[in-house]
Amino acid sequence: MITGTYPSLRLRRSRKESWSRRLIQENTLSPNDFILPIFLIDGSNKRQQISSMPGVYRYTIDRLSQIVDRAIKKKIPMVALFPKTQNVHKDELGTESLNEENLVCKALREIKKRYKNQIGIMCDVALDPYTSHGHDGIIKSNTILNDETIEILINQSLLQADMGCDVLAPSDMMDGRIGKIRKALDKHKFQDVQILSYAAKYASSFYGPFRDAVGSKDVLKGDKKTYQMDYRNSDEAIREVTLDIKEGADMVMVKPGMPYLDIIKSIKEKFKLPVLAYQVSGEYSLIETAIAKKLINKNAIYEILVAFKRAGSNAIVSYYADRLDKIIK
Ligand code: PBG
Repeated sequence: MITGTYPSLRLRRSRKESWSRRLIQENTLSPNDFILPIFLIDGSNKRQQISSMPGVYRYTIDRLSQIVDRAIKKKIPMVALFPKTQNVHKDELGTESLNEENLVCKALREIKKRYKNQIGIMCDVALDPYTSHGHDGIIKSNTILNDETIEILINQSLLQADMGCDVLAPSDMMDGRIGKIRKALDKHKFQDVQILSYAAKYASSFYGPFRDAVGSKDVLKGDKKTYQMDYRNSDEAIREVTLDIKEGADMVMVKPGMPYLDIIKSIKEKFKLPVLAYQVSGEYSLIETAIAKKLINKNAIYEILVAFKRAGSNAIVSYYADRLDKIIK
């Protein structure tokens, strides 16, 4: 690297005026950088506050247009759907995941009917919103079964694709699921449905408020350490991504976000493919609480989101996605 020396070189020269700072900006944010998560509930005409996530709501299907209209107006390219399934519909096998009348399927049909391709829709592929034990896969004698779970995930993927899902996002961390899902999609003529693999998803304490939002917190037995990654590891993230690319993933996700910026950066540098980051519920609620207590001001939100871009993410799943203009001002 070529650089000058003080006093002929003074880096503060270029920071002196606002126009000059703007001129040399390396990273900025636009609405195109965001994916908005939407939580779904049963019932009619309800917008329900989520107590663990101030400012975030659950919507009934008939109120969806309220939030989707806003996402489209703000030019956000994609929304992600997450259902809060009633406990009566949960069982050991997560059978509700294959029900055409489940919340996600209803929402997919509704949004596609109303908005066509004005906005992309992404859906998780995993069983945790539907199982009575809150795990992402099915259990036999205290073990999450890998291959048996994938068979259900394939059917969940085909169903969601059939209902209009544009981007399937397996978030379950079973081994080998990307290849099997891709193959099944192609066989059923869903060759244009994309796969966004949650390739590097860590067993994290930062998912707490989300599990509350989708109602899996109280039912979850134990932790997810036998399938989600150990946060002590980074080489392993590279191995996960390598496998998923070979199996046919179009994009990969790193999750959580802020504590894992190093992982985002190394994946981006090594593979040069679209890398998405998930600013998860715990990160969101932490920031919101600190702002509410006046420990930090709301400019911190923008600072953190830019950090995701600096690290190399193409887009960010964020609960702030639809309110960015208010934050930036
Ligand atoms: C489920 C899933 C989780 C999140 C997204 N999909 C939780 C988990 O794995 O327990 C977390 C998102 C968030 O915390 O905002 N497979």
